[in-house]
Amino acid sequence: EKFTQGYSYEILLDTANFLLSKIKVRPRIGVICGSGMGSYWKDGSLAENIEDAECIPYEDIPNFPVSTVEGHHGKLVFGKIEGVPVVAMQGRFHYYEGYPLWKCCLPVRVMKLLGVDTLIATNAAGGLNPNYNIGDLMIVKDHINMMGFAGNNPLHGPNDDRFGPRFPPMNKAYNYEFRKIAKEVAKELEIENIVREGVYTCLGGPNFETVAELNMLKMVGVDAVGMSTVHEVITARHCDMNVFALSLITNECIASYDQSGEANHEEVLDVGKVRQDILRKFVSRLVERFTQL
Ligand code: 6GU
Repeated sequence: EKFTQGYSYEILLDTANFLLSKIKVRPRIGVICGSGMGSYWKDGSLAENIEDAECIPYEDIPNFPVSTVEGHHGKLVFGKIEGVPVVAMQGRFHYYEGYPLWKCCLPVRVMKLLGVDTLIATNAAGGLNPNYNIGDLMIVKDHINMMGFAGNNPLHGPNDDRFGPRFPPMNKAYNYEFRKIAKEVAKELEIENIVREGVYTCLGGPNFETVAELNMLKMVGVDAVGMSTVHEVITARHCDMNVFALSLITNECIASYDQSGEANHEEVLDVGKVRQDILRKFVSRLVERFTQL
């Protein structure tokens, strides 16, 4: 008992069964709406084009954590995108809020138990690659699990083989076919000039990075920095979900000492607002195409 981390398979089954008893659709794809992307429910977020939406606030879901960040509404939205049954998380759980990583990732396992086999995770990130511009969309090709290097991992603790193996591989974390499709869709939507592909890393936050930290991350090949997604992807791959992740570049990482300006959360939310129509179209098309595979 003293080594037990997280909730058991049985407890999460209770949560999944509760949700299945409340909703009509049987979602195939799970979408996690990042900062600035799920934040504008009324005036057009990623979750807004979900047809026949059935919303369940996190506080009504047994065993679910409750989200606290400003700009996050905190609910599951069930419905259809382009005829495909989906569940979207409007508001995610961040490590900096105080949840352990396994709790941040609990919804991913619940999605798996609902029958979801594909995860689309979106986030807001700082652009470290000097070729990136504010407003760019970065298809995540790979990640560096910085928190994992320090021994913090959502899979830490006893393994339940019903979810997945003790030592899951991570070399094919971001599905190659999905990334190929995303680049095709970017061309179709004529947004290929703002779509990039790169390496993401997650830091624990809540502070943004120092110049020295950003320079270090640059040196090890990081293109964009955020405070989420990596642990969710690890949890999703552990239970054999197919994963696609997308970063909205909301600000430039200030990686030199003589640059003025500093990162702030308002900028992150503003850029999300500017890009919300494009993001919605892009993600809708991806949902459609991923299910045709
Ligand atoms: Cl500059 N850093 C981190 N860690 N997360 C961010 C960010 C920067 N910009 C948006 N999210």
